[in-house]
Amino acid sequence: MTFNPLEHEGIPLDKQLRNWRELDVAPVDPDDSDPYTRCRIIALNGIEIESIMFSHHFARVCPDMDVKRKLAEVRYIEAQQQKVVNWLLPGAASPLETTIAYEQVAVDLTAWVARMEPDPQLKQAYEFGVLEDFDHLYRYANLYEMIQHRKAEKIVDGLTEVIPGRPTRFHHRHPADNVREPYDKTEADPLSKLHALTIMAAEQQTMNFYMNVGPQYMEPIARQLYQEIGLIEEEHVTHYESLVDPGETWWERLVNHEYNECYLYYSFMETESDPRVKAIWELHLNMELAHLQAACDLMRANDGREPEEVVAPELPVPVTFEPNKQYLRELLDTQIDLTTLGAGYVRDAHERFERMQETVMGGEQPPSDAVIDMHTEKFGSDYRHELERS
Ligand SMILES: [Fe+2]
Ligand SMILES: [Fe+2]
Ligand SMILES: [Fe+2]
Ligand SMILES: [Fe+2]
Repeated sequence: MTFNPLEHEGIPLDKQLRNWRELDVAPVDPDDSDPYTRCRIIALNGIEIESIMFSHHFARVCPDMDVKRKLAEVRYIEAQQQKVVNWLLPGAASPLETTIAYEQVAVDLTAWVARMEPDPQLKQAYEFGVLEDFDHLYRYANLYEMIQHRKAEKIVDGLTEVIPGRPTRFHHRHPADNVREPYDKTEADPLSKLHALTIMAAEQQTMNFYMNVGPQYMEPIARQLYQEIGLIEEEHVTHYESLVDPGETWWERLVNHEYNECYLYYSFMETESDPRVKAIWELHLNMELAHLQAACDLMRANDGREPEEVVAPELPVPVTFEPNKQYLRELLDTQIDLTTLGAGYVRDAHERFERMQETVMGGEQPPSDAVIDMHTEKFGSDYRHELERS
């Protein structure tokens, strides 16, 4: 079945405002919900936050009062959507438990995108990045058992493995080496544009989350590990945002954002196992369809272009949270020793990389290694959750 978001009107914008009662959604059951339902909540929260921040940035450079008012109107609805989506998370989770779920999202969403991405250069960018978040999951899981005496397998379930990826200590590259070449907006597959926006949004919310929750811990090793991985998420945002063609106009970017929101709500509506949550994805899809219409009207009026020139005529196959264990094992075998040099990838440590490493390490072990040593000292070995045979 094909679905063309441009052909649906959705809920009229002036009917989208919700009252307190409607915003006050019951969270999912912390003990009895599909881990991938939580992943979809986290992913969509990242998408809504990106839509809000993008709209604010647009408004700040927009001199047209009518456009500013239209942006504000849609943005308020996005803000209500963000509240509903993120408030589905049960308050029972500690920041560290949520962190482990964030890294699971990064692993399984990026792996899925890498598998589906048609452009080899972009595919490489996702394959490169996913091995790093995979290792973050392992480091945080060790911290979790150490300070909360619980196992990460309770969170990720049997869906995602917790084993070492590309070691976190090697993620500290010179910032200039985190900038990739963008796709060309005139030639890129519409799916590539959606992928880039999705992963950029997911990494950005992870970066923002660690910025704020890291200092909430009292244990020195926890504070240190959040600083270290928080800085890598900064690198990841740089890496993924540079994939997007900077030559897209603001109007075109607005259309792409709304189209991507339609794509993700549609995808998750199609794949959601919890019927109550599924109904929310469906409601939000029907709101996004009207946002998309509004964005298309703005583009027609200001860019003189039709949306069909920019976006796909139908939605691609639904974005799906599913296990990627075997795929990740293959990447571990072939890409673990990669780093970047300029816009490309190399296997050998180079001078700029080594200088960066020396400076940030300051002659000491990084927190990501210390956490494993401390865990081993306390429990006799590191924490792993292996499911596939290596
Ligand atoms: Fe939205
Ligand atoms: Fe990460
Ligand atoms: Fe990341
Ligand atoms: Fe929207």
